[in-house]
Amino acid sequence: MKYLSQLNKKYLNGKTCLLRLDLNIQDDELKNSLRLKRASLTINFLLKNNVKVIILSHKGRPENVSNIEHQKSKLSLKDVSKALSDVVDKKIILFENFDFKKIKKAVNDSNDKVFMLENLRFNSGEENNSKNFAKGLSFLGDFYVNDAFAVSHRENASVCAITDFLPSYAGLELEMEIKAFEKVIKNPPKPLIIILGGAKISDKIGVIKKFYSKISWVLTGGGVANTFFAAKNIPVGKSLYDKNSLTIAKEWSKSKKIIFPQDVKIENGEILDIGKKTIENYSSIIKKAKTIIWNGPMGYIENEKYQNGTVSLARAIGKSRDFSIVGGGETTSLILKKHLEKNIKFLSIGGGAMLWYLSGKKMPGLEALDKNNF
Ligand code: 3PG
Repeated sequence: MKYLSQLNKKYLNGKTCLLRLDLNIQDDELKNSLRLKRASLTINFLLKNNVKVIILSHKGRPENVSNIEHQKSKLSLKDVSKALSDVVDKKIILFENFDFKKIKKAVNDSNDKVFMLENLRFNSGEENNSKNFAKGLSFLGDFYVNDAFAVSHRENASVCAITDFLPSYAGLELEMEIKAFEKVIKNPPKPLIIILGGAKISDKIGVIKKFYSKISWVLTGGGVANTFFAAKNIPVGKSLYDKNSLTIAKEWSKSKKIIFPQDVKIENGEILDIGKKTIENYSSIIKKAKTIIWNGPMGYIENEKYQNGTVSLARAIGKSRDFSIVGGGETTSLILKKHLEKNIKFLSIGGGAMLWYLSGKKMPGLEALDKNNF
């Protein structure tokens, strides 16, 4: 894989870069978004080296792209581009269609330096990994940079097919992600613990499976713990749990390495956070760990009343001296909001991609960069 950081500065001067970012950010996370913060690293690096930047991203999952009009306002990148513009302190021009000839002319004629295309998933070519769509995109720039770890598990045109047409590099953020994940995948210092929360459990079981021989404990919370409870016939009332994963959860619930909350916060028949005793127990386990992998919150952290479990564990990690990696948009934005980022050795912009990578599945976006031989 070739890294943007290793490119000769003379090569960059005066060129136009197609920069794939993952700006799939929920409106309420825009204020404390790790993805926006990290995006600024490569943008600023490129601007410093006199490169025009055309940002590519998707947002959400548009259904039936042939009938896109009514979904456009909700899934537009307009607000994201404004938020990013504030973070990098630069005007960002958003193109609302994929008329590549017009866009190229507008970029060439403009004195501005940063541009963005509208949500790529508005075009069916993106998710179909269409060569044609990728070729159209590639027409806009001189080289391509993938700085979107969070979508590198998807075989999409702006992640994979585009590398057939342009010299392609890993951006500064992606380079950090790859190096951080290498640390936990190859030889994680032990004891290794994994903390799993959030809604869905199926991808998370994949991580437990992959790391099983290396882990000492898996600490569970949120919908993950609720799913294990439901699988063990412990009543969960109206609580969120993954109904499709009860069988696999039942199998794994017998493992001695998987630890469940001893007490929880319940309101109106719903489990909304882990309780005090659980926080104490989990914190003492965290203190023994040398490596910590964490994906997904311990409770319904959208509401401030139920953030205590997640925030307390982030604090406990700060007291341990070793390597920790935390991913997932909600968890990382809460960590940033509470100014606890110094407690974590590496915050990943990946949510699903983090679980995918840790489960040992192929990452088509990384493979495409590996294969690129311009
Ligand atoms: C994410 O937010 O996890 C990525 O942008 C991937 O989105 P997707 O699951 O819709 O492909």
